[in-house]
Amino acid sequence: MAELKILFATSEVAPLIKTGGLADVSGALPVALRAMGIDVRVLVPGYNQVIAQLVNYQVVATFADLPGFPFAHLLSGTMANGMPLLVLDCPSLYQREGGPYQNTQGHDWADNALRFGMLSKVAAELGSSTSPLAWHPDLVHCNDWQTALTPAYLHFSPGAVPSIVSIHNLAFQGNFPPETVQQLHLPPSCYGIDGVEFYGNMSFLKAGLFYADHITTVSPNYAKEIQQEELGFGMQGLLTSRSGHLTGILNGIDTDEWNPMTDPHLVRPYSSANMSGKAADKEALQSSMGLNLEPDTPLLGVVSRFTDQKGLDLLLEIAPRLSKLPVQLAMLGSGDAQMQKAARDLSHLFPGKIGAVIGFSEALSHQIEAGADMFVMPSRFEPCGLNQMYSQRYGTPPIVHATGGLVDSVVDCTAATLKDGTASGFMFDGMTAENLYAAIQRAVGLYHDTEKWEVLRKNCMAKDFSWQNSAEAYRAVYLQVLGR
Ligand code: ADP
Ligand code: GLC
Repeated sequence: MAELKILFATSEVAPLIKTGGLADVSGALPVALRAMGIDVRVLVPGYNQVIAQLVNYQVVATFADLPGFPFAHLLSGTMANGMPLLVLDCPSLYQREGGPYQNTQGHDWADNALRFGMLSKVAAELGSSTSPLAWHPDLVHCNDWQTALTPAYLHFSPGAVPSIVSIHNLAFQGNFPPETVQQLHLPPSCYGIDGVEFYGNMSFLKAGLFYADHITTVSPNYAKEIQQEELGFGMQGLLTSRSGHLTGILNGIDTDEWNPMTDPHLVRPYSSANMSGKAADKEALQSSMGLNLEPDTPLLGVVSRFTDQKGLDLLLEIAPRLSKLPVQLAMLGSGDAQMQKAARDLSHLFPGKIGAVIGFSEALSHQIEAGADMFVMPSRFEPCGLNQMYSQRYGTPPIVHATGGLVDSVVDCTAATLKDGTASGFMFDGMTAENLYAAIQRAVGLYHDTEKWEVLRKNCMAKDFSWQNSAEAYRAVYLQVLGR
């Protein structure tokens, strides 16, 4: 019998359905846990994209009378990599044209409370004695607001197992009008400060942070930041009061998926020992992004959701100044309409120097990590961030703002850190366009010092960002919660 059985509840999982880093984590952490002998099963909603990619699935349960929720099946299947998956098949809630959270116009689905209330409710059912499944988890691991109502349901369920909630982003809280408590059939008594109430609304995330047995977040530095007003998004008081049950665990990355030696998206793979392929990948990227084919001009890469969090407004602001330097910029992203337009406009204003692709492209994201010389990530806040880790693995030093997980995963390049072999990127303090510009200038200066640049690249590529250590840390949390 497996040492531990974990139900991992999530609203997205790569490669089936992805809007951001949560999908990457949900696709890789459970695999790393399974490799350690833990029996993990991932629960996700049956969006079109998920149902279409599921192999060998069967109906294992039916939910016909969950009060307030529509009829649904639970499917059991596997992902292509063998990962066992439980899929909540409820076509009226999940099978639509559009994204997991928003319609094709970019507006939140009007029934998101019901959609993710149901996901949370089913996760709680599977973790209580009324579960229709023979497989009983020892613990439910919830992720972000979409599954953070699970601990509240568990609290009021018979024979409930413990739960933990992982915060991937405190800015998304799932706050809805107070009537939602009734609509989702939670006991009215839970609507209070010691419960799901949050500044006059009912909050999925607040519920999780209050009722879960333990809270984790995706970097040690962010675990500290969210206990303070500036980045606590109103939850700092609760988080501080629960600090004895709050652990920051730095995300890992999927080192098979993100491997410059084997990456099928690259025109030429490369390794730290032989970097010649990287030059070919740069040329291919310049060509595909409409940039001048200049091998020695430093090329800055961006792959990002376009949102206030990512601080790209600073980069867009200094882009005209950058275009006067011998520097090129390749941007891939989507989101905020104004930022999309600004990026597009810049590429028209500075043809050959600035390239922008608006959209979501897995292949191009790999090609930018490989083909760029530096990766720009000036996030205002960043719970962990994965791209700065991908870029280091691809020998593309990141230029980052000193916040969240960026502080835990990038070492600023100075004379001292170059000497002791830890330097792996460029970090700026103080969220201003000037400070970002200065950091880019520092990076460009070093780029032209070929010997030092080689040292920096090698440092980056030698770093271990695999999931192994983080998965061990999650296991330790599970065992602690279970008192084993
Ligand atoms: P966040 O989850 O806040 O968006 P992360 O850095 O943790 O930030 O993860 C973002 C993930 O989404 C990375 O895998 C990144 O490559 C991917 N990504 C973001 N935008 C795009 C895009 N436009 N096209 C392809 N991949 C993208
Ligand atoms: C969130 C955060 C990001 C983190 C990711 C995975 O989307 O914004 O920083 O890396 O979740 O944990």
